[in-house]
Amino acid sequence: MTDITPAGAFPLGDRSVNRMGYGAMQLAGPGVFGPPKDRGAALAVLREAVSGGVDHIDTSDYYGPHVTNRLIREALHPYPAGLTIVTKVGAVRGDDASWKPALTSADLTRAVHDNLSNLGVEALDVVNLRVMGAVHGPSEGSIEAPFAALAELQRRGLIRHLGLSNVTSAQIAQARGVAKVVCVQNQYNLAHRDDDALVDELAGAGVAYVPFFPLGGFTPLQSGALSEVAAELGASPLQVALAWLLQRAPNILLIPGTASLIHLRENLAAAALELPGEAVVKLNAIGGSEA
Ligand SMILES: NC(=O)c1ccc[n+]([C@@H]2O[C@H](COP(=O)([O-])OP(=O)(O)OC[C@H]3O[C@@H](n4cnc5c(N)ncnc54)[C@H](OP(=O)(O)O)[C@@H]3O)[C@@H](O)[C@H]2O)c1
Repeated sequence: MTDITPAGAFPLGDRSVNRMGYGAMQLAGPGVFGPPKDRGAALAVLREAVSGGVDHIDTSDYYGPHVTNRLIREALHPYPAGLTIVTKVGAVRGDDASWKPALTSADLTRAVHDNLSNLGVEALDVVNLRVMGAVHGPSEGSIEAPFAALAELQRRGLIRHLGLSNVTSAQIAQARGVAKVVCVQNQYNLAHRDDDALVDELAGAGVAYVPFFPLGGFTPLQSGALSEVAAELGASPLQVALAWLLQRAPNILLIPGTASLIHLRENLAAAALELPGEAVVKLNAIGGSEA
């Protein structure tokens, strides 16, 4: 089995987690709605991720809804010591599979209790406030009220650590005035680099940056330069995309999503892939940066 430790570890809350983690969103049905296509495979992916060394799983109770959390519980409860499960609140699903903002104090309290019962825990390891912004990109605006509501639930012992998702630098600064922020989860990958400055800012502050859509999301990344580098290294293009993120900054934690055991194995193997400097230069050009 692949050793994921070459990718290193980074603090997340009061634990250190392996930088190669796993994102559970793809385990729900099509459109992140309803039951998985292959329930047995979904449970097997979760179990193999953890037996392969993954100790950081990203989820939300609005995946399904409830589906991915219940699969995680069925596959892994009682949870191994040291497994950090990060969830998100701030949205609910309509009967038509739509995503609706749910950011009032009552909405957030309900979401935290749903996560607690569906994951089968007494306190959630990390809860990210998912700000709706502009779908997959942030937009400015105060997040003080919803973040203060989560900080109150943290004081009551229901949440161990807080994070943010889909936010700007100004919103992070505002939230840090309310409570400690241990991670930020925004869209970022080889081709989508709006957060370049934010990644570096958070690295300087020792805060984990967890890119969502690390492989490009529902339509995985494709690029001639990426395929070329992959062929030179004898790796797959998506392994190279993950290795690029790992070398980009030490505070980047990966949560690639897959419902396939074969893809899981391929993604975990990227933890040991080293990119020569020349390859990094070629890959940097994909996102239009010389950095
Ligand atoms: N905060 C937010 O707003 C937000 C938004 C989106 C996602 N997330 C989190 O981020 C995690 C990662 O994002 P994501 O799953 O949407 O996107 P992703 O990791 O960028 O890519 C997932 C897609 O790539 C495919 N894939 C994965 N590994 C592959 C491989 N080795 N070869 C070929 N195809 C592969 C998957 O299909 P297969 O299942 O067929 O492998 C799926 O279609 C999610 O699981 C979720 O936890 C957070």
